[in-house]
Amino acid sequence: MKGLILSGGEGTRLRPLTHTRAKQLVPIANKPVLFYGIEDMAAAGITDIAIVVGDTHQEIRDAVGDGSRFGVSVTYIRQRAPLGLAHCVLIARDFLGDDCFVMYLGDNMLEQGLAEFVESFEKSREQTPSLMGDAGPSRAQILLTPVDNPSSFGVAEIGPDGDVVNLVEKPTDPPSNLALVGVYIFDSCIHDAVAAIEPSARGELEITDAIDWLIQNGSRVRHQLLEGWWIDTGKKDPLLECNRLVLDTVARRVDGAVDDASKVEGRVVVSEGAKIVKSTIRGPAVIGANTRIENTFIGPYTSIGDECVITDAELDHSVVLEGCCIDGTNRITDSLIGQHVQVTRSPERRQASRLMLGDHSNLELG
Ligand code: G1P
Repeated sequence: MKGLILSGGEGTRLRPLTHTRAKQLVPIANKPVLFYGIEDMAAAGITDIAIVVGDTHQEIRDAVGDGSRFGVSVTYIRQRAPLGLAHCVLIARDFLGDDCFVMYLGDNMLEQGLAEFVESFEKSREQTPSLMGDAGPSRAQILLTPVDNPSSFGVAEIGPDGDVVNLVEKPTDPPSNLALVGVYIFDSCIHDAVAAIEPSARGELEITDAIDWLIQNGSRVRHQLLEGWWIDTGKKDPLLECNRLVLDTVARRVDGAVDDASKVEGRVVVSEGAKIVKSTIRGPAVIGANTRIENTFIGPYTSIGDECVITDAELDHSVVLEGCCIDGTNRITDSLIGQHVQVTRSPERRQASRLMLGDHSNLELG
């Protein structure tokens, strides 16, 4: 079983953060979203992985390298334009060969691991041919979850025997409320399907159409229902929610220095080289390496990146990327702050704010 992780998307909904950074590298509890997917594949025994990359390919290569730190081997496949998920399969043809593979959307996070999903597909294909029926072994397996707004997703219709009978991408009249989650398993039959389909109305080769092509051409497609949460981290609020869910699972670890005047309460990671001075950190929270927190209150569900300096401030339910300097501000909440951002308060405490913000910034002044 090989792995194909799709990280070519542009992340327009996370601008301005993603002008300089791939959306798959935005951190959740100080670890890039993409790393969770790679680790999940490694845990399921998948060690031969290709990552489809787009314009942000260099950043992704720099962050992931050859995969050896995850115990896997990573190959990069360049997608020149975002032409769809099925297009990614098309350009990965040489890497995939005739092997089965898991396909995973690089900006998705799942609570459930991949191991059981992979195992159940493999088991279904080990059955004796007579038990499989006329349609033979399953050619694909998809993960589904009920949603309130199926028209925003690929939607599946399940037949009486549990096989998928129909799939439609972003239907105006959804056949069910079961949405496709961004994790799929395929055997080599998918290559005929992606070669046969035409681009959709949005100009992309849809993997949903390719799987539907398999079904309409007599192949079996299995499904599983998602267990636990699933978040597409491509927007600020879901990203903060994901950060909250993951921080709830981190184990307390204090490697940095905490002075006697400070309190570190509950599930908190204080990374190596960090210094907490005259401050309170109330978990769940993570403080990055070499970050200095002084005279500050860090409240629950906050991740502060490496090499930040935070003084005379109050922050909660926020994600702050590396190299930021926050000094003397009012309470900051529900915020996502990009790398190397400076947030300060003018010494005169005047009612006017002075701003230097990048394109597409989003500022709500309190
Ligand atoms: C893509 C797929 C869709 C799936 C969704 C899951 O949609 O096309 O079938 O339900 O991912 O996140 P997109 O994010 O490209 O609109």
